[in-house]
Amino acid sequence: MSLESLRGRSLLTLLDFSAEEICSLLNLAKGLKAEARRGETRQRFQGKTIALLFEKRSTRTRCAFETAFGEEGGHPVFLSTADIQLGAKESIEDTARVLGRMFNAIQFRGFKQSTVETLARYAGVPVYNGLTDSFHPTQALADMQTLEENCGPVRGKKLCFIGDGRNNVARSLIVISAKLGVHVTVIAPPSLSPGEDLLERCKPIAAESGAEMRVTADLSAVEGADAIYTDVWVSMGEEDCREERLRLLKPYQVNQALMDKTGRKDCIFLHCLPAVKGEEVTAEVVDGPQSRAWDEAENRKHTIKAVMLATLGLAG
Ligand code: CP
Ligand code: NVA
Repeated sequence: MSLESLRGRSLLTLLDFSAEEICSLLNLAKGLKAEARRGETRQRFQGKTIALLFEKRSTRTRCAFETAFGEEGGHPVFLSTADIQLGAKESIEDTARVLGRMFNAIQFRGFKQSTVETLARYAGVPVYNGLTDSFHPTQALADMQTLEENCGPVRGKKLCFIGDGRNNVARSLIVISAKLGVHVTVIAPPSLSPGEDLLERCKPIAAESGAEMRVTADLSAVEGADAIYTDVWVSMGEEDCREERLRLLKPYQVNQALMDKTGRKDCIFLHCLPAVKGEEVTAEVVDGPQSRAWDEAENRKHTIKAVMLATLGLAG
C-alpha cells in the first residue's frame, strides 16, 4: 500500500513522505540487496530512461543511479552543466518541460533546492534530489538501511551527528530521524547548528514518532550512542569558508578517543563519504572495525534503486 502511494512522486526532501512510505522503501531496499547477494538479475527498467543532471561532482550518487538503472535494462543519460543549458540560456522550467517529454525520471544534484523543486513542478515525471545545498535525502535512506542492518529496528536508537550541523547531510538526517523515531543529537559549534526553521518543522513530526531531537556543542553528548556520524567540514560550493571551518571544527574531529567516549564498543561509525581523513575523521576510525562507511556507500545503490522502482510503479 505504501509503495503504491509513491507511484509518480518526486523525492525532494523526504518531508512529504510518511514514516510508512519510508519504511516500505527501506524494506524494498533490503530485498534488493538480498537479490544482489544471490546474484539475481532482473530487467525492471527495460525501455525506461533517466536524465542524471549534475552541477556538482559525485562518485557514489552518480554511480548508484547509473548502475542501478542500467543493470536492469534502463538507459541513464549523464548531463553536467558543461553539457546542457540549465538556467543559463534556458530556464529551469523549460529544461524540465523538455526533459519530461524524453525521460521517465530525472535526478538533479546541484546548488539550490529551488532548482530541484522547479524541475519537479514542471517535468511531469518523478524528480529525485541527489543532493542540494539544503538536503541529501537519498543519502539519509542509505544511512537508515545501514543503521538497521547493524543495530536492528531504528526506532529509539541514538544517532549523533558531529561537525557542520547546518549542512545538507545533517539536515536530511534530522528529517529522517524525526520521521522514523530515531533519537538524533547534533553536536556542533553554535554557529554551525542546524537552522531553527528546520528544527521547528521537524518538532511535530518527532512528537508523533517519539524521536528526541537535541542540538548541543558538548561532545560528552555522544555517551551511549548507537552510531556516530560525521561529514566533511567544507561542503561543495563552500570552499571559501575553509579556514574558518577548520578553526571552528577542529575540536569536533571523530577520532578513537571520541568513539570511546560513547562507552560502547558496539557503537558504529557512519560517514556519507567522501572522507577527508585527518580532518573530520581519523583514518583509524573510518578504516577501523567500528566503521560501516563502506556498507553505507553500497546501500546508496539499493536504496536509490528502491526509490526509482517505487516511484516509477515498477516495484510490484
Ligand atoms: N555520499 C555522496 O553523496 O557521495 P558522492 O558525492 O560521491 O555522490
Ligand atoms: N556535505 C557534503 C556531502 C557530500 C556527499 C557536500 O555537500 O559536499
